[in-house]
Amino acid sequence: MSDKVSRRQLAKIAGLSAAAMAGALEAAEAKPAAPPRNGGGFPAGFVWGTATSSYQVEGAVNEDGRGASIWDKFVRIPGKIEDGTTGDRANEHYHRYKEDIALIKELGCRAYRFSVAWPRVFPDGDGKPNPKGLDFYNRLVDELLKNGIEPWLTLYHWDLPQSLEDRFGGWRSTETCKIFGDYAAYVAEHLTDRVKNVFTLNESGRFVYFGYGIGIDAPGLTLPQAEVNQIRHNSALAHGFAVQAVRAHGGRGTRVGPAENIDACAPAIDTPENVRAAEIALREMNAGYLNVIMTGGYTDAFLKYAGPNAPKFTDAELKIISSPVDFLGLNIYAPQNYVVASDQGAGFMPLPIPKSFPHMNSDWLRVGPETIYWVPKLAAKIWKTDAIYISENGASGDDMVRPDGRIYDTDRIMYLRNYLAQLQRATSEGVPVRGYFLWSLMDNFEWVYGLNKRFGLYHVNFDTQVRTPKLSASFYRNVIANNAAGV
Ligand code: BG6
Repeated sequence: MSDKVSRRQLAKIAGLSAAAMAGALEAAEAKPAAPPRNGGGFPAGFVWGTATSSYQVEGAVNEDGRGASIWDKFVRIPGKIEDGTTGDRANEHYHRYKEDIALIKELGCRAYRFSVAWPRVFPDGDGKPNPKGLDFYNRLVDELLKNGIEPWLTLYHWDLPQSLEDRFGGWRSTETCKIFGDYAAYVAEHLTDRVKNVFTLNESGRFVYFGYGIGIDAPGLTLPQAEVNQIRHNSALAHGFAVQAVRAHGGRGTRVGPAENIDACAPAIDTPENVRAAEIALREMNAGYLNVIMTGGYTDAFLKYAGPNAPKFTDAELKIISSPVDFLGLNIYAPQNYVVASDQGAGFMPLPIPKSFPHMNSDWLRVGPETIYWVPKLAAKIWKTDAIYISENGASGDDMVRPDGRIYDTDRIMYLRNYLAQLQRATSEGVPVRGYFLWSLMDNFEWVYGLNKRFGLYHVNFDTQVRTPKLSASFYRNVIANNAAGV
């Protein structure tokens, strides 16, 4: 029956001429933004942005003296990238950045989160800087500012200089952490006269485990748990060195903080006991990185659970790790743990997630909009922060180009509408979320998926490099214009 209905609807849509459909849409999109219908939107001054990262969009991997990164090597290992592609060319953003900035402006975004490719600036990770590499970011920042868009810079989005992996074992060594601090100081010295917000490392929670634990991200290693825990500790130390470097070398008013894919916990059912359990869970499930950064200590439960695999550390390191930050950047996509209260263990129990739980085009991307309400709310309480930014949120889709040349990504719009409605619920209750960066501005090189997964507001034809706005670009433009989720 439902099959029949959908077939009938399809026939009806097919009956509309492409031109009529495009005309109707253009008319709808041209209408002035409707006022928020739910009595309020986001707070005034809320920062609306989009995000990308260097290796995923820049291409030009051999140009202007850029050194190799661990991803340049990893993508060449047969079978590692689903479709066999690489980031060699990606979106050619290195050359097309002006065109891409025009796309950001078209959305009405006030901010753009990008990352600096460490091996562009220091081809070997340390030693002699490469002025041509830095120049690219000077040009990018100037062009953003010229267009009224604030640059938000990430120091590390996974493209570790290969030389550091070869010489020191990459993040296995605290030498890399110190060198990261030097690189952060250099970037701060040269760019924070114009860049006022700096994220340190993107997603320790992913690159440590995926890269060094299960080998599905660069550098592709499968080390024992004790080493993985030590590497996670090193990533927190690197974050701390970077915070100190930005403080010491940054221009006046430069702010710095992490951008972490927080292990997202939410109460399965909203009762006071479960909310309390979710709060404990959020702290404990993030004890290896965010909690130590924010509090300066590993929790007893974490150390007990890790047992002999617990990281080795000194008090001096904990001090560096917990250098005060100006904001908390949270990448929130999918619920990780729905929890209920328990009288066992630490006081919470994560529930098994059924196979039938709905997800977006990527299997891992479960649809749990309330996550973006609970996680910032509980995080603000646990870590007493008054500035949270959603440093990433977004969804993959199949994003087929229809015969009329357009992409009707109503699935992405559904996802965004629901997440933004929950985020608005949070801000209207006073949860201190100050901004939101949508992942991603445009389709790009999606790591292990290659070009197979599309997260962009703009569709990219990777043969011609033509960018085409998806319907979600109009949706997001409307959200920004209204400063409201539009529910
Ligand atoms: C985040 C990363 O984890 O999710 C992005 O910071 C990434 O770089 C995005 O593109 C989507 O992840 P994936 O694994 O589906 O490519």
